[in-house]
Order: sequence, then structure tokens, then C-alpha cells
Amino acid sequence: MNIEWGSGTDPALLEGDALCFIISEAQIQGEGIPAEWAGRLSRLSGAGLFSGKPGQIYILPVLDRPELPVIILAGSGDGRLGMQELRLLMAQTVRAAARLKAALLIVAVPDELHRQSALTAESAGQAIAEGLVLGAYRRRHYKLEQPAYSGPGRVRLHMQRQSEALEDASWKLGIARGLALGEATNLARELTNLPGNMLTPSGLAAAAVAVAERHGLPAEVLDEQELALKGMGGLLAVGQGSNHPPRMIAIRYQGGSEWKDVVGLVGKGITFDTGGISLKRAPGMEDMISDMGGAAAVLGVIEALGRLRPPVNVIMLIPAAENMPAANAFKPGDIITSLSGRTIEVLNTDAEGRIVLGDAITYAREWGAERIIDVATLTGAVVSILGDIATGAVTNNRAFLEEILEAAGCAGEQIWELPAYPEFRELLKSDVADLRNAAGRYGGATTAGLFIGEFAEGLPWVHLDIAGTAFLPKERGVNPKGATGVMVRTLLEYLLRSAARPGIKAEQPLL
Ligand code: BES
Ligand code: ZN
Ligand code: MN
Repeated sequence: MNIEWGSGTDPALLEGDALCFIISEAQIQGEGIPAEWAGRLSRLSGAGLFSGKPGQIYILPVLDRPELPVIILAGSGDGRLGMQELRLLMAQTVRAAARLKAALLIVAVPDELHRQSALTAESAGQAIAEGLVLGAYRRRHYKLEQPAYSGPGRVRLHMQRQSEALEDASWKLGIARGLALGEATNLARELTNLPGNMLTPSGLAAAAVAVAERHGLPAEVLDEQELALKGMGGLLAVGQGSNHPPRMIAIRYQGGSEWKDVVGLVGKGITFDTGGISLKRAPGMEDMISDMGGAAAVLGVIEALGRLRPPVNVIMLIPAAENMPAANAFKPGDIITSLSGRTIEVLNTDAEGRIVLGDAITYAREWGAERIIDVATLTGAVVSILGDIATGAVTNNRAFLEEILEAAGCAGEQIWELPAYPEFRELLKSDVADLRNAAGRYGGATTAGLFIGEFAEGLPWVHLDIAGTAFLPKERGVNPKGATGVMVRTLLEYLLRSAARPGIKAEQPLL
């Protein structure tokens, strides 16, 4: 999306396909509104059509000006919008513009918008750009007939005031940041929405290498021979039943002068999860195209880091595999040796995510990670607890999680911590191996997390289970139906904030 910027003249004199006015409930009462508008607005609110409620949208055709045929009214309630409300309002606006087949949308940004909302110009600009970019995303389709209209490609933000040079700079900075975060999220959504036949482990590796090359970042892809040489027995076992062999994908982003305080970002990259020999039931299995949502999220983070270039150090790792039932697939009862040397007794081949993530976390340590965040569509159990409303978290370091929760608050994404009592860890014990990969029904989201945490070996670690939040059955908030790209913006907010202060030290682990 191309976001332009202007200020000064009356926006109603501009030319475009649609013009959005942000209107508060007070303005409906006539406050600070030109007389010719006051009458129309009070008639609309009298008829119960538009009252300025937050997020409310009303379309007004303009019959006498073909240069600007439609006005979109967008309600801002009491006018005090937080970042998330502002994002939502812009997402609704851009969706309305898309329904009207507008190519150029103009948004009149009221003078007092960010001051009334107690936002800085920078965060207001960021929220506006994010909302526009996030709201404009639709899953692509593969029908014979392709639509001629491809969405609002241009948005012009029109500041309703005289230009103040200093603030303009922060508005522009915020807009650039919002664009980067929004487009990184859309990249993650796009990859997550790709079906299993269009995105195999090597295809995911190619997509990652393309992102790395675009930003001049070093990337490494290990093929099945190299995985065997390294000893990544977990990833190999999960991928062995597929005709599309597994890959370990690494991208290194160095924003600091030295390679220290390295954050390991690890994303589950199962390009399709049939469950393997412990086959899933058929209804809903098609949604397992999204079982690389964690991989897409960490790759989205790299995309935005490449654009914004903050002073942080990140090693991104994606263990990529397709989990298939086959004559040569891994089986319940198999005992496999992970990269860390830990052995794993396989009780259920559908609990494959934790196995591949274990190897990736060990590898992240080899790359110098000093704290680790893993993102994974890991368990049905987390969906039973939190539905598609919040991402579940498990950690060995509360201070580390707190920072991520703060970042999530700013990004407008919801995370809820799951209890990680030591009793849960007991359930992962095996008679014949160091760990078993399934621990029964009780506390399934926690035990799955704790399995992964073993491989962090005491490093500060946070696990984010996005099984419920990565893929939605229908549009909600800034998210479309299908892939959401959840956690891209939380992780970026976390990294951008940590760029501003020294890294945390490994404190006493909880486990
Ligand atoms: N990819 C699934 C988890 C999942 C479920 C993601 C629903 C998105 C929506 C994962 O690999 C899985 O199958 N987990 C099993 C683990 C069990 C066998 C211990 C599960 O949750 O049923
Ligand atoms: Zn899975
Ligand atoms: Mn599975």
C-alpha cells in the first residue's frame, strides 16, 4: 500500500474515490462542525444511522462532485482513541473503501486526533498505517475469474491543519513504522494461507531466503543430508514420511555492533500436519495448512527488521517439515535422538511440533541465542482454554514474559500465561527415554510448552502457542478470515523496545 501525506487545503476539495471523515459523538452534536454539515449529521443520528460510536461506519454518496463521489464517516466515540481503537477504525474504513471499489482513499486526520487521545504523533501515525494495511488484506483466491479491482492501493492522509515541521517528522516516522509492521504481518498471513501443495518445506525455505536476500541478511538452509550430519534427529523423524524432505532455515539479523544479547526467534514450520501415523480426523484437517503460522510470524519479524534496521541482534530459526503418514513415517513407540542428545519416546506422531522445535532451540543456542522465544500452532488444548481470543504463553522467566506482555498490549494482541507448575513437568517422563512427546489430556498446552522449554536448558525462554489465534474462521477486528499473522507485531514491538535499553540478564529460572 502506498500511503501519501498532505496537509493544508480543505479535504473536501481533493480528488479521490472516497474521503473518510473521523467524527466524534460531540461533533454529531454540532461541536466544531461547519453549519452545512451539522444539519446532515444531526439528521443521520436522529434517524439512528450514524451517531459517531467508536468503529461505526456510514457511507454518504456525494452526487454533485464526481471527483470525490463518496464520503465515509468513521465514528471515534469520545474522540479519545488508543492505538488499538485507531487501528480498528482505520481497518473498518479501508474495508468500507474496498466495498466501494475505491483505489484512492483519502483520510482526513483531525488536528486534535493524537492530542485528544494522549498518543504521540508517532504512535498515532503508526496505528493509522497499521490499521489501513491490516484491514486491506484479503486471502488470495485461485478462481478462473480474477477480479479487476485489487483494493485501495493508495491512501492519502490529509492533516487538517497548518504544517508543523517537527511533528510532521514524527508522523512520517510513525507511518513508516506502521507500514513496515503491517506489511510484515501481511507477508506472514500470505505464507500461512498458502495450501500444503503450494508451500512445502523447501518452498518455505525459498520464501525465507527471498526475504533475507531482499535485505542483504545471511541465510542458511540445511537439507536432509546436512540435518543428518548435524544430528537433528527430531526434525528428520517428523519429516521422514513425506516426499518433501525437511529443512532447517536460519536467518541472522545483526543490528548491533557486536553479536551479543542475541534473541532467538523460533517458529514452528509444519507446512501441513496430517497427524502422521496418529492420523487426525478429516473434519477441519484443511486448516492444518496454517501449521507453519509460527514460522511465518518469525519470518515476518525478519522482514520488518530488514526494513527498519533497529540495533538488536536476532537469530531466526524455522524447522520446516511436512507431517505425513507413510510406509517410512515415524511411528508411535519410536525412540529418537534430538540434536541436544536428549532421547524422545514418540507416543503420538501428531505431537510433532514440540519435536522439531526442540532441535531448533538447541540450534538457536549454537547460534549464540541468549534468550529464546518460540511461536507455534502447538496444541488443540490451548484452543480449549483460550479459544481464538488469546495466545497462550509458557515461560521459565516471568520478567522476560512481562516484557512480551507489555509489547503485546501495545500491538493490540492478547496473550495469557498458562501455569507451569513443576508437577506438569513430571508428566513428560518416560521409562525408556529422556522425554515422551505426549503427556495425556490434562494440561496439554502446558506440558507441550514445558517439553519445548527443556531444550532452552535454563536460558530465559517464552513459548507462544498460537494454535487458536493464527487462523480465524471469520473476520474479527483487524484480522481477516484465515491467517492473522499474529505475534509479528508483538515480537517487533518487543524488539524495538529492547533496542532502547540493555538486554535482560538470565535470572533464576522458574523450572
Ligand atoms: N498442529 C497441531 C495443533 C493445532 C490444533 C493447531 C488445532 C491448530 C489448531 C499439533 O501438531 C497437534 O496435533 N497437537 C496435538 C497434540 C496431542 C497429540 C498431544 C493436539 O493438540 O491434539
Ligand atoms: Zn502440528
Ligand atoms: Mn500435530
